[in-house]
Amino acid sequence: MKIPFLDLSRIDRKLKERLKSKFSELLNEGVFSGGKEVEALESSLSKILNSPFTISCANGTDALELALRGLGIGPGDEVIVPAMTWVSTAEAVVLVGAKPVFVDTDEKGLITSDWEKAVSAQTKAVIPVHLYGKMVDMEALISKAKAKNLFVIEDAAQAFGTFQNGKAAGTWGDVGCLSFYPTKNLGALGEAGMCLTSSLELARKIRLLSNHGQPIRDQHELVGRNSRIDSIQAGFLNVFLEKWEENLTKRKASAQIYLSGLSGISEIRLPSEIDQLDHNAHLFVIQTKRRDELKIFLAGNGIGTAIHYPMILPDMKPFASEGNFENARNLARKGLSLPLNPWLGESEVIEVIDKIKLFYASKN
Ligand SMILES: Cc1ncc(COP(=O)(O)O)c(C=O)c1O
Repeated sequence: MKIPFLDLSRIDRKLKERLKSKFSELLNEGVFSGGKEVEALESSLSKILNSPFTISCANGTDALELALRGLGIGPGDEVIVPAMTWVSTAEAVVLVGAKPVFVDTDEKGLITSDWEKAVSAQTKAVIPVHLYGKMVDMEALISKAKAKNLFVIEDAAQAFGTFQNGKAAGTWGDVGCLSFYPTKNLGALGEAGMCLTSSLELARKIRLLSNHGQPIRDQHELVGRNSRIDSIQAGFLNVFLEKWEENLTKRKASAQIYLSGLSGISEIRLPSEIDQLDHNAHLFVIQTKRRDELKIFLAGNGIGTAIHYPMILPDMKPFASEGNFENARNLARKGLSLPLNPWLGESEVIEVIDKIKLFYASKN
C-alpha cells in the first residue's frame, strides 16, 4: 500500500533511537518485571489522567476482566454491553462467568440512555465503550447507574487522552480500562493495559488479582493470576508518553483536513464529532452505503482502510443473542476507517480525499 492504514515502522528515526536506547538501558539493568519503569508509567498516568490509582497489567482485555473480578462480578450476574465494540468487552464478562446483555448504540456507536431498559434484577454493571475515541455522555450514564446501584466499568481502550468536562476517559466509572495495544493512541511495542480507579480498596484488590493474589512475594491472599505488565513495555510507553500530546495534535489536524475535504460528498456520513474535545481522534470512521465498493476502490489505488467492526457481537456465535441492534448493525455494514495516525503526511490525507471524490464522481 502506498498509503497504509497504519504502518508502525513509520515511527520517526529520532523516536526509534529513543526506544532503542531505552531497550539497551533495560537490558543493562537486567530488570524485566516490575521496577522503576512500571512505577514511572503508573505515576505519570496517574498525574496526566488525574486518577488516584493506576494499576498496569498485561493488556486491555485483562484490564476489563480484572475490573469485573475486582468488583466481585461473576456467575449469575448480568453486565450491560454495547452491541458494537471490540470483542474483548463481552469476552471479559463471559470469562468471569457473568452474562453480557447487549444493547443497541446510537448511529455513531455509543451506548444511549436506552441501556436502562436492559436492566434486570441480575444486572450488576454497565460497560460504556468510548468507541473510536469519542466519549459516551458520562455524567448522564453515571447518575442513572448510581440511581440503580450499578457499577460502571469504562472501556476506555480506544480513548487514552480523551477528556470530557476536563475529566479523563477511564476516570468516571468505578474502574476504567485502558489498552496499550500498539495501534492505540498510546501504544506499546507489544501488549499492555491498565486499570484506573479512585478506590483504594479496589485498587488493592485489582493489583492482587493481577499478581497471583500476593501483596508481597510468597504471601497469597486470594486466587489471582499473572497479568503483570512487562517492564520493557512500560519503558517503551514512558518514551511514547513524551509524544502523546504532539501526536494528538497531528491526529486532530489530519482529521480536520478530512472533514473539510469530504464535506461536500452527500453519500458519506462524516464523524464530525471528532472535532470535539472529548474525542482523541483515534479512528476516523466514515459511513457510506457503498462501503465495500469504496474499500476495494481505495485498495486498488494503494490506500489501506480498515473496518471497526464488520460484525456486531450479538451476531457472533459465542455471544449470539436476539434484540434490536439496528444502529450498531448499520455501523457494521457502513463504517470504514480511513488512515489516521501521527505518521500520515498532509499530502497523503489529501490524496485519500481526492480518491474518495473520484470514486463518487465516477460512480454516480
Ligand atoms: C474497545 C476495546 N476494548 C478492549 C480492547 C482490548 O485491549 P487489548 O487488545 O489490549 O486486550 C480493545 C483493544 O483492542 C478495544 O478496542
